[in-house]
Amino acid sequence: MTAVLMDSRRLVAFSRLDEVLAHAVAAVEAEQAEDEATDTFPGLHMSAVHARRLLRTPLGSPRLALARPCPPQPSWDRITSDHAGWSWLRTRHGLSDLELDLVLMALAPEADLRYERLYGFLQDDLNRRRPLVGLALDLLTSTVDERLAGRGAFGSGAPLTEHRILTLVPDHRAVEPPLLAHAMVLDEQIVDVLLDQQGLDRRLAPCCRLEVPAPPAGAARVVRPDDAGHGPVRLYAQGPAGAERNRPARDLAAAHGAPLLTVETARLPDDSERAATLLALAFREASLLGAVLTIADLEGLDRLTGEYFVRGRTLEDLLAGHEGDVVITGARDWAPEGRHALGVLPIPVVRCGFTDRRALWEQALAAQGVTTDPADLHDLAARFRLGPDRIADAALTAVAAARRRAAAEGLPGPPSRPTRAELFASARGQNGHALDELAHHIEPVYGRDDIMLPPDTAAQLDELRDRVAHRHRVMDEWGFADGLPRSTGIGALFSGPSGTGKTMAAEVIAHELELDLFRIDLSTVVSKYVGETEKNLERIFTAAADSDAVLLFDEADALFGKRSEVRDAHDRYANLEISYLLQRMERYEGLAILTTNLRRNIDEAFTRRLQFIVEFPFPGAADRERIWRVCFPEAAPCAADVDVGRLARDYPLPGGSIRNVVLHAAFLAAAEDSVIGMPHLVQAIRREFQKTDRVMPEGAGPGHQHVRDRS
Ligand SMILES: Nc1ncnc2c1ncn2[C@@H]1O[C@H](COP(=O)(O)OP(=O)(O)OP(=O)(O)O)[C@@H](O)[C@H]1O
Ligand SMILES: [Mg+2]
Repeated sequence: MTAVLMDSRRLVAFSRLDEVLAHAVAAVEAEQAEDEATDTFPGLHMSAVHARRLLRTPLGSPRLALARPCPPQPSWDRITSDHAGWSWLRTRHGLSDLELDLVLMALAPEADLRYERLYGFLQDDLNRRRPLVGLALDLLTSTVDERLAGRGAFGSGAPLTEHRILTLVPDHRAVEPPLLAHAMVLDEQIVDVLLDQQGLDRRLAPCCRLEVPAPPAGAARVVRPDDAGHGPVRLYAQGPAGAERNRPARDLAAAHGAPLLTVETARLPDDSERAATLLALAFREASLLGAVLTIADLEGLDRLTGEYFVRGRTLEDLLAGHEGDVVITGARDWAPEGRHALGVLPIPVVRCGFTDRRALWEQALAAQGVTTDPADLHDLAARFRLGPDRIADAALTAVAAARRRAAAEGLPGPPSRPTRAELFASARGQNGHALDELAHHIEPVYGRDDIMLPPDTAAQLDELRDRVAHRHRVMDEWGFADGLPRSTGIGALFSGPSGTGKTMAAEVIAHELELDLFRIDLSTVVSKYVGETEKNLERIFTAAADSDAVLLFDEADALFGKRSEVRDAHDRYANLEISYLLQRMERYEGLAILTTNLRRNIDEAFTRRLQFIVEFPFPGAADRERIWRVCFPEAAPCAADVDVGRLARDYPLPGGSIRNVVLHAAFLAAAEDSVIGMPHLVQAIRREFQKTDRVMPEGAGPGHQHVRDRS
């Protein structure tokens, strides 16, 4: 009956079911004939004849199978020898013939809806379209003993239940129905296997990736081909994020010519029960596909706890029950707890060093037929700690950008050389995506010349920039990193009154270094719950680990400010949080900047752990004048009498306020359809003082007069 849907191999199993069903239909037919002979309204109510027959039937005996003279054909041996899916199910889970028949019954409506109607008919209720346990046992067993034993197939330790092959669903209309009145629903993944459907299980799509890795080109293999083939390989690839920890798994898959299934643990749902189910599904999917399985990364499982996800145990149990190769990746030390003999081999994965990175950039660009300025190659390798795959990808992107630019400019000929900006942009594009959700990505617009600072502050900023730019030479080439116990990260604190250019300075530095800038608003990270702040910070630093970005922890007063308010147990927690932040900043391998308005609240114990403390003083009149000047764009129309020197002298405003004033004055002028004049500026200054409830000083002659006349 299902020939239209299936080719002959898949059909084989269904003809077995058809035979069982044909006998059952015949049995029901005989019953009905008996009813019709005695009943005027058969089917509308239950006749006494029917009730008598129920009493007559021996308790617990199968209802419909008695009429079957011999076992149904084809046998399961025959079916499993013909079909890989059935064969896999039988051997992998050790299913009995009865269990296979149960699976077949549950599968049938997925292949053809006519089976639903047949089940409805046999169950004497056309709304009950899924096969019930009771019907299955009626059809598939022939004695009371067999039928009772058949219930065991649904026990908690039996393979159908334990491996989540069949789910029992109670009829939603019934009140606590007995086991026999539960419907059997087959797992989607098993349905796909038995119907030869290709592709990744739909439920796994959000958290898993399936690929067929190519053999690694050139680079030394972490896993040699002869490692494969002697029982399952179980590796723990340990290394920092960004060190291409997936490389061993890819090598292994390539060596086998097998697909690679990667579980991205960070994408597993937070609900531990669902996460555990998906993880188990992923193991089964890998086994189905003959794929190498990667659990990336171990750290992503740490947040899952509770009765459904027992840390350590859940993963180890799955590993123990899995016959294929598995690679787990992670940064921390890990060893199984030893309840199973797993034989996990830890292998360290190290980041490519500067020399490798430089060579990889050169090769990747040469492969695209372009040569590059050695200074650019040096800076790319020094500033971005990308692995081989990412460098290759970044080089491709940069060349594509150059080609596009050349086409737009109408330049024909050989591939044009990517500019430094194009190279840096494509390198930046490789990283930091994990941070996008947790931090605000700032496109730096301000350059070094836009910020007006006292000479010493300006010099400190330049030193900070150079510290990052020349880190490679000093630390690696000159060997200074060897003597340092910690990472070579750089922590800086910018402190000063509001509007003095602290946030702006962070932008200037990122701009100068051509690095990404991510702003983390600490006021949203700090939580009043003990331990939550640390967790939030940990998430950010984990995401930032391979970003090579400048991290700006803005408004750090949310953290430091807390200390001045309370002098009790909270004080201690606040101190712990600050310590934690500083310690994580030290471990971060790039530049991290804190900004605060409250320098005096910060203990010396803390400031000692930062390499740079940069003071942003309230600007003096001369600096204010320079700030006034840069705040006017070139195209802005100004009246001849605008005297910024005077404004700077008369009104003690920080840079942030000056910027607001100029913008506000421009709008006032635009509304009057005139050029920007002193009266507009003075009016805007008045508004700025109003904002902060301060008294506006007398000054600026005619403009001031103008404002007073108006009010
Ligand atoms: N020293 C300066 N030179 C030039 N422009 C400045 C300077 N200081 C501030 N500005 C202008 O003011 C704007 C605001 O400054 P910024 O946000 O950097 O201040 P901040 O010190 O971070 O203040 P807050 O403590 O309130 O965050 C800048 O975008 C810039 O336009
Ligand atoms: Mg700021």
